[in-house]
Amino acid sequence: MSKRDQIINTLSADTKLISEKINELRNNNEQYFVLNGRKKTYHVLTYGCQMNEHDSEKIAGILNSIGYEESDNDKNSDLIIFNTCLVRENAELKFFGKLGAVKELKKNRPDMLIAVCGCMMQNDEIRQKVLNKYRFVDIIFGTNTIQELPELIYNVEINKNKSVEIIDNSELIYENMPKQRKFNYKALVNITYGCNNFCTYCIVPYVRGREKSREPQEIINEVKLLAEDGCKEITLLGQNVNSYGTTFEEKFTFSDLLYELNKIDGIERIRFMTSHPKDLSDDLITAIKELKKVCNHVHLPVQAGSNNVLKSMNRKYTKEHYLTLVEKLRKEIPDVAITTDIIVGFPGETEEDFLETIDLVEKSEYDSAFTFLYSVREGTIAAKMENQIPEDVKHDRFDRLLNVLYPIGLKKNETCIGKTYSVLVESVSKNANEYLTGRTEHFRLVHFKGDESLLGKIVNVKINSAKTFHMEGELV
Ligand code: SAH
Ligand code: SF4
Ligand code: F3S
Repeated sequence: MSKRDQIINTLSADTKLISEKINELRNNNEQYFVLNGRKKTYHVLTYGCQMNEHDSEKIAGILNSIGYEESDNDKNSDLIIFNTCLVRENAELKFFGKLGAVKELKKNRPDMLIAVCGCMMQNDEIRQKVLNKYRFVDIIFGTNTIQELPELIYNVEINKNKSVEIIDNSELIYENMPKQRKFNYKALVNITYGCNNFCTYCIVPYVRGREKSREPQEIINEVKLLAEDGCKEITLLGQNVNSYGTTFEEKFTFSDLLYELNKIDGIERIRFMTSHPKDLSDDLITAIKELKKVCNHVHLPVQAGSNNVLKSMNRKYTKEHYLTLVEKLRKEIPDVAITTDIIVGFPGETEEDFLETIDLVEKSEYDSAFTFLYSVREGTIAAKMENQIPEDVKHDRFDRLLNVLYPIGLKKNETCIGKTYSVLVESVSKNANEYLTGRTEHFRLVHFKGDESLLGKIVNVKINSAKTFHMEGELV
């Protein structure tokens, strides 16, 4: 048995999974394999952020542990799972579009199971809409009920019942769920779940519940297993990693966690996201500076540059405070890369407010940024605000923002020309086979010539040229 299978097996020993029903399901799937010469297959469609990507790895791990096999497309799968996102309207539209297409697939294959989970299913209204209008959906579960998936499949397959299992705001953290990681050399690791911040535009606290921190030892054990399994890079996940541990009786902060994880042999890079500016501590800056494995990259979402808008967003910091943080980071960690998220067109945003965002972007000199048009989310405070901004104004500001961001990104990449960086090789280029793609610790994308055997390795690459979104170089 490979180390990887061993880990999956140990983890799947979680009590939740060893019920008689699950054994029956597993036996049925084994029989299916004997009779049909193939395992039943599943395909997971993932929308949204890395939280969802990681949840999909757990879903895949659970399905593998009960005898299913992953399929790379939905057409010939026995089970299709939609892991949904509700953060902006377009995530919602994409899901409903695809769900409509799958209805047609199921017409020809009535035995196919369709499951919908993730953040959208945590919303009562949307869940009811799926239940009432998309009656071909067999299974619905939420972000706190992933561990129930085998029981839900059992209910449909054996009891022929539609299965729905949602818990609004679970206090519990289910440890030891099996995981089928997408990549061998890098892994996502949850450190907190949920969010307490209630930024007025954001639906996440409503669908993911209150913030909970995983016990340090659980995280350390998981990362040790990952390292033994050959994983080199971990990304620690939380809506606000900086508030990790605030509920613990004994003081143990996010930077304490970084010091512990930095000791684990085999792990070479530690990333984290997301860092909320209101809670970015001096201790964390020191940890990034002192700890060799912690990447010199901070994703620090600013959202807006105007103090009026920041206040109305409930972000709890000012433009001036944010710029002080940027200055401190650059002073303490001279080669630090800073990236961000920005929303344009928040209700009430005036032209002057928008120009404050432009000013902040120029001063912060971001390496890159995720930019969003404000999207009304029913149930949030901002959805009820007056002065919603017309779509054409939002689009105009969006374009003008990119015109400022892109040249800064290019300039940042150009400063790397002639220098050599260690790059974790992540993929073979889609367009040209002999080209590999990887990232520097600063999260800069690099293309260079090399062969597939380097996948998952950390190599040295000298940068020869720079574009806005990537750099080109050669192996040294
Ligand atoms: N917890 C992270 C963000 C998670 S959501 C943080 O606080 O930084 C990812 C990003 O989506 C946010 O940073 C924000 O820029 C964007 N976003 C969230 N809600 C949005 C909305 N209603 N409209 C547009 N963008 C939104
Ligand atoms: Fe949403 Fe704000 Fe929480 Fe981030 S910190 S998930 S933006 S409410
Ligand atoms: Fe992530 Fe979307 Fe949910 S951004 S937390 S998947 S609403």
